[in-house]
Amino acid sequence: MAIRFTPQFLDDIRARLPVSQVVGRKVALKKAGREWRGLSPFKDEKTPSFFVNDQKGFYHCFATGEHGDIFTFLIKTEGLAFPEAVERLAGEAGLQLPAPIHRDPKVEDERERHYRLLEVSARFFQDALFGSVGRNARAYVERRGLNLETLDTFRIGYAPASRNALKDHLAKEGFSIADMITSGMLIGGEDIATPYDRFRDRVMFPIRDMKGHVIAFGGRALDPNQPAKYLNSPETPLFHKGRVLFNFHNARQPAFESDRLVIVEGYMDVVALREAGFEESVAPLGTALTQDQIGLLWRVVDEPVLCFDGDAAGRKAAWRSIDTALPHVQPGKSLTFAFLPDGMDPDDLVRAHGKAAFEKVLARARPMIDVLFEREWSKGDVSTPERRAHLETQLLGAAAQISDSTIRNHYQRELKSRLWTALRKASSDTNSKNAGGRNGRFQAPRDHFKGRGSGQRRSGEGAGGAGPVTASAALLKSSLVAGDGGGLPHREALLIATLLNHPHLIEDYAEAVSDLEFTSTALSRLRDGLLSAQAAEKALDRAALHTQLTVLGLDQILYQVEKSITHRCDKFANPETGHDEVESGWRHTLELHQRALGLSKALEAAERDWLQNESEDAFNRIQELKQQMDRLETIEDAHNTLPEGDPGNEQPDAA
Ligand code: UTP
Ligand code: MN
Repeated sequence: MAIRFTPQFLDDIRARLPVSQVVGRKVALKKAGREWRGLSPFKDEKTPSFFVNDQKGFYHCFATGEHGDIFTFLIKTEGLAFPEAVERLAGEAGLQLPAPIHRDPKVEDERERHYRLLEVSARFFQDALFGSVGRNARAYVERRGLNLETLDTFRIGYAPASRNALKDHLAKEGFSIADMITSGMLIGGEDIATPYDRFRDRVMFPIRDMKGHVIAFGGRALDPNQPAKYLNSPETPLFHKGRVLFNFHNARQPAFESDRLVIVEGYMDVVALREAGFEESVAPLGTALTQDQIGLLWRVVDEPVLCFDGDAAGRKAAWRSIDTALPHVQPGKSLTFAFLPDGMDPDDLVRAHGKAAFEKVLARARPMIDVLFEREWSKGDVSTPERRAHLETQLLGAAAQISDSTIRNHYQRELKSRLWTALRKASSDTNSKNAGGRNGRFQAPRDHFKGRGSGQRRSGEGAGGAGPVTASAALLKSSLVAGDGGGLPHREALLIATLLNHPHLIEDYAEAVSDLEFTSTALSRLRDGLLSAQAAEKALDRAALHTQLTVLGLDQILYQVEKSITHRCDKFANPETGHDEVESGWRHTLELHQRALGLSKALEAAERDWLQNESEDAFNRIQELKQQMDRLETIEDAHNTLPEGDPGNEQPDAA
């Protein structure tokens, strides 16, 4: 494509418009030396870190690193495309746009005529709605709850039940029959002697381009017996339905600001949502979402939400759009999927339950990988190795469509991980159910496909429950190793507390104590303090030990340790507990600690292995280790909820 704007032209605009003037409309600026200063439009902040320099012609945001000129400012803050930013600013600068290059003036004229023709038609329909021909239509739109402001915003109108009402009007305005046909407003052709109005007895929804020009119409039949409930303009020189979204020009700015954009199915859904106070919605025009349309959406937000019916048809439609989007996903750019309660569209939902109900649906939107996995799994019979392999091939084949290699790798890894987890879950479900006489066909773990709030998506979750492998850092922080609240890992603190209150254990278990590994560095230091105090003076008593540790500057940690011993079953650590009880409590705790530590180390190793090799073997080990950790935690929990008075010194059962 030829370059439409020369660097010289862009410089002319820059020269006429100081950055502070363009930016100043959005950001309150104060003079600061040779520059201007204000609160960053890219970040919520209290102290201004956003600077504008008119001499150099740029702005710079120290909070976010955003940097640019007047054009990037409009692109970044209003979601405009570059040519739109140029057009807008050229207008402001009082500069004539350069004539489009490589465009046939005859074609250009025709486009202009069509724009005018459609504009005149829109006006005609709007007037008709409020005239006497529009009485029924008015009653209809009122019944559907549309108020005047909505009718006005969307420029909703009425096409009279006549074969020539619009035709006559357009002719009076000087338009040719040929233009009326090419622009889609009349039906005509070789075998049609008298061309006639395409839209008759319909409520009319103008379809507009990004600038708000009317380029086509959708019409809803008033007559319930009319076979085509909705009728759209055909493809015309101005209208390519796969590249346009209903309400895009109105939704774009609010969507950009809220970083949220919802795609619903119908005109009435968009209209009802807007009326309920939800501006950021658009609809494709009676067809499945196209790649071009997804591209439009991504210009405004990273993760547009596709909204579907909760029924089988809705699910199928969602599945289809995955195939459209998948090849084109980019790092950070994807789609999410929201499903409505069965049998309701967004219009029904907000009219019955208000905007909040719709917000709830959106909050449960699910990531694309969830829906993709569900799609493949739900087709599957996984009762034989061959069928399971087939499913795996299908999943990996779907991921292979992704052209971005980084995303593709992530998808392949996560799909495999989900598959193994789901298969294992299915197999254990089947085994337990088989006793009840089920056949050998695995069941999909349905409840795992329930949506969850995008804000609370956790990496450890996925189909089948266990899902993708979590990072080892997170595991080390699990309650198994780390503690609950308080800051210090509970079991580790308990071990140290026992030693503090019963210093003779330091000598009796000298080797175990010096080998004690802690995840908390503070506790490691305390352990070293204990050992050095003990080395300096045999048979330390409790008070002397405290003094020694305080001298070593460890009193703060000491205090924290004492504070963190709160469980009922920690009583064995108390100073006044008898020798035997202390010792068995200590040994029990030590053993649990060592086992937990051993498991988390093994898990870490398995995770490293998995990340490097993605071997099923590593994956199985991870699952096994996680189960063991779960069991260990169960022992702990049971232990911690023992009734008052129980010495809490029973041995753990074998894991
Ligand atoms: P629906 O049949 O779900 O209609 O079609 P709706 O949006 O709920 O409309 P109301 O509430 O009955 O008025 C959804 C969308 O599918 C396209 C239209 O774009 C419509 O908005 N459609 C539907 C057609 O293009 N032609 C049709 O005959 C029906
Ligand atoms: Mn509807």
